[in-house]
Amino acid sequence: MTVLVAFATHSGATRTLAETLTAALRAEELEVDLVDIADSPDPSAYDAVVLGSGVRIEAVEKPAAAWAQTHREQLSGRPFAFFSCSGSAADPAKGGKQKATDTFLARLPLTPVAVKNFPGWVLMDRIPVHERVLLTSMRTPTGDFRDLPAVEAWGHEVAPLLRG
Ligand SMILES: Cc1cc2nc3c(=O)[nH]c(=O)nc-3n(C[C@H](O)[C@H](O)[C@H](O)COP(=O)(O)O)c2cc1C
Repeated sequence: MTVLVAFATHSGATRTLAETLTAALRAEELEVDLVDIADSPDPSAYDAVVLGSGVRIEAVEKPAAAWAQTHREQLSGRPFAFFSCSGSAADPAKGGKQKATDTFLARLPLTPVAVKNFPGWVLMDRIPVHERVLLTSMRTPTGDFRDLPAVEAWGHEVAPLLRG
């Protein structure tokens, strides 16, 4: 049983979540490849797929959205799970909702077996200067908001769903 964990990241947080998820899926005895979307993985080579993407300006990463559109038929033909990694997921007032995730999934002809919105990090030294200005003007809270144990727990939860 092979699983592709594909991820799209700008400042690196989504990669760390994808790594934690991969370790949890491997602990469930799934055969997992962890691949950056930039390397154009082929989902048809796997039995199941998990896609993770960072969120920027209320949208998932453009390469993640483009990849999912390109491969939508292959993704709809096998168990597919999605997770986002964002700043606002750290806000309990959001109740686990993420507009970028909802918009992204609404454009795809598939029903994921699982969807999760995880908090990432907002670390000024990892983003370009012009974006720091934008985030500062928006008064975006900064810090490392990741909850890796929650990602690990989700991995154990989705493993049987990916098996189909
Ligand atoms: C330019 C910029 C725009 C962002 N826009 C949003 C946003 O609209 N909503 C949100 O929840 N988080 C937003 N964030 C926070 C990111 O989602 C967060 O830093 C996340 O960890 C990014 O994932 P990555 O590190 O894998 O790139 C933004 C961050 C940057 C740098």
